[in-house]
Amino acid sequence: MSVSKVIVPCAGLGTRFLPWTKSIPKEMIPLLDKPAIHYILEEAVKASIKHMIIITNTHKPALTNYFDPDVALEQALRDRGKENLISSLESLRTKIQLTYVNQSEPLGLGHAIGCARHIIEKEYFGVMLPDDIVVHQRGALDQLLRVARQEGGSVIAVQEVPLDCVSSYGVVGIKKQLTNHLFQVSNLIEKPSQSQAPSCLAIVGRYVLSHKIFPALDELNAYATDEIQLTDAIAQMMHKGEKVFAFKVEGVRYDTGNVLGWLKTVIGMALQNPEYADQIKGFLDDAQSTNSFLYNPEKTIDHLSKK
Ligand code: G1P
Repeated sequence: MSVSKVIVPCAGLGTRFLPWTKSIPKEMIPLLDKPAIHYILEEAVKASIKHMIIITNTHKPALTNYFDPDVALEQALRDRGKENLISSLESLRTKIQLTYVNQSEPLGLGHAIGCARHIIEKEYFGVMLPDDIVVHQRGALDQLLRVARQEGGSVIAVQEVPLDCVSSYGVVGIKKQLTNHLFQVSNLIEKPSQSQAPSCLAIVGRYVLSHKIFPALDELNAYATDEIQLTDAIAQMMHKGEKVFAFKVEGVRYDTGNVLGWLKTVIGMALQNPEYADQIKGFLDDAQSTNSFLYNPEKTIDHLSKK
């Protein structure tokens, strides 16, 4: 099985970050010095993906601008001997073809994936949700690709979550446990209640899927009254005979899709980064021990009052 394409859905409204996302796409949220989409591109390149299909909309020019070459900026940095500041982006760009596909209405993740069907042939392809960042040397997608090749089927990344968190995720039911990390899937439920959840294995935003997902999406579309969920289409494809596996990916997974998750991501990444780790540790220790970062009106200096 050779997998060369990945779909990255980026056309969501980003409502959890409004009003900030009114003018800046959520995928451009900074995680230390790079936007989230940059980490997705890095992970795709690590998995030897050759073609990234970004599902976007006309309100997100910042996303396309980010990857477009900026000749004037590049020259200005070269003149100052600072070309290293954007060289990592330039070198990634040369390794992968980028195609932008418009999703004119936010009709759900399944619908977003369906928008790229004209580019996917009779092949397996990857899906990467940019809210989920997985820090791992080889990357999460590369781990899934190895499983997909070995098992000859579709593979979903999962992680174990506490039962009181299952309703935030798609959750997989297990037909058979094949190894410590690998499961054959029996059913999938999007955002189940605790009593409906078939397990505590929650879907993380990385998938390797068969092109058979497109007829499955069509079948759902015929009855859809609301958003079309990718999880439901995977269940449909599986019931039509496609083998679906769940793989517990290795690495640290961050959810950047809400304000608290984003804060944890930035702090977690800073603590792993030799340039910032000591200072951030010191900052967190101080904040905890002395509360010195809390606003205290009694200690505030009134710069306007006369002495
Ligand atoms: C999406 C998927 C869900 C998955 C989650 C992972 O949900 O629909 O199955 O568990 O991503 O982040 P969302 O978070 O976009 O609502």
